[in-house]
Amino acid sequence: MTTPIHDAFLIRGGIPLKGSIEISGSKNASLPILAACLMVDGPVRLFRVPRLADIDSMLTLLQQLGCSTHRHEAVASGRSFGPTLGGQLDVCVEDHHAVEAGYDVVKSMRASISVLGPLLARRGRAIVSIPGGCAIGDRPIDLHLKGLEKLGVTVRSENGRYVCESPNNGTGRLKGATMYLGGLHGPTVLGTINVMCAAVLAEGKTRIVGAACEPEVADTAAMLNACGARITGAGTTEITIEGVEALHGCEHRVIPDRIETGTFLMIAAMSGSSLTLKQANLDHLIAVADILREVGVSIVADADSQTIRVTGTGRPKPVDVATHPYPGFPTDLQAPMVSLLSIADGISVISERIYEDRFTHIGELSRMNAVIRKQGPSAIIAGVSGLQGTDVHAADLRAGAALVTAALGASGTSRITGVPFIDRGYEKLEAKLASVGANIERVDSQVSEKALSKVSVSIHDAARTATRSVVRKQVQAG
Ligand code: EPZ
Repeated sequence: MTTPIHDAFLIRGGIPLKGSIEISGSKNASLPILAACLMVDGPVRLFRVPRLADIDSMLTLLQQLGCSTHRHEAVASGRSFGPTLGGQLDVCVEDHHAVEAGYDVVKSMRASISVLGPLLARRGRAIVSIPGGCAIGDRPIDLHLKGLEKLGVTVRSENGRYVCESPNNGTGRLKGATMYLGGLHGPTVLGTINVMCAAVLAEGKTRIVGAACEPEVADTAAMLNACGARITGAGTTEITIEGVEALHGCEHRVIPDRIETGTFLMIAAMSGSSLTLKQANLDHLIAVADILREVGVSIVADADSQTIRVTGTGRPKPVDVATHPYPGFPTDLQAPMVSLLSIADGISVISERIYEDRFTHIGELSRMNAVIRKQGPSAIIAGVSGLQGTDVHAADLRAGAALVTAALGASGTSRITGVPFIDRGYEKLEAKLASVGANIERVDSQVSEKALSKVSVSIHDAARTATRSVVRKQVQAG
């Protein structure tokens, strides 16, 4: 008997959700912040790093590069909703010798290139496999290397790897410089962070013009400044770094995950739900909130309590959207947005300006009755009155988020395979959704059709029984 691989979600759609969900810490801030720990002499204590497959991959890489890591058990906060999240994460460099991020880890997670800058800053050398492409398109790192070379790094490609060294064969210090880092598709997030990290321990001043403005860049700079770095302008298009001799340990709380937040906003809109998102920051999603309000979604934020109240009200209105670097509409929310617009009352066009191939979700949504046509870098969506649940497959992380969004709003049951992609970027997704009333279950993708129909009926019956007992209790309570 093979051990069941719970790599699929079974979702019975069409149920309005209600309640509170806690947003996790940002995956895309945590990954470069963990890499930056390589340049710190002393313990780093991080709070709200999500428990995700990608975070585990980065922790394995840090251990291979001489770090000790320890995740404390999450402490239930006694609140009355959702799964327990978090648990402090301690990282400390024990040995500064290793300098290579091998093919396996780079292939499985592109963000492992984030170790480039920190290794060159602190160890003078770094060897990373040349990252191939992935499901969403080519993922070159030419801008990373251009910026590092401006700081005095020599780069040579050898057997599918980039071998990078600081001056004097890796024994000398990098030197500050002024550079422009924008590319054909705009700024580079991890490229900006890599060069920023390398400049922190360089001699003299560095100015990065055409820097990425994403909140994850600013959060990485905040962590480095807490360790003694001297970075100003992070989060704007121009970042200035005054080099320092060394960094000491620090404590840092990671910002909320804005992409998870945006995904739940779209889930609420898609399923006619009323959700309260906790530990959320709408300031990082101004463009998304603007577009969703145009679609007809009610979004009310309370910055003090870091709470967002979102209500899906009626059929979405059609809109035209284009993805842009921050503060524009983020490419990572393009796929769930296509799901939402597939039931809009009219024709919408969503254009992908960052990754030309980021449309693996279109074919799968069409299986659910969506009417979408890819036209070059755009998806032309003719809204239908509703989607129908069926078997679909997630080919990448955000396509998976799009299919969960669609399945929750669809009629009938959907089986989504490829859930390990979703586990890379959404912490305890099924537990969070179930806590607000979703019928979602993690199953073995080999569940037979017959068993599937039984399971979906049982979920339905369970939901009906549960509803009946709740109603009975309410009647008895008067
Ligand atoms: C970060 O990737 C995010 N990942 C991505 O999120 C996100 O989609 C992307 O930024 C854009 O916002 C992490 O933060 C871990 P880029 P990154 O360098 O930094 C081109 C997710 O779903 N480019 O900003 O690797 C590139 O091809 C992931 O969570 C070059 O041409 O992306 C793309 O078209 C997916 N040369 C554009 O720039 C370079 O040297 C933006 O890429 C680097 C990038």
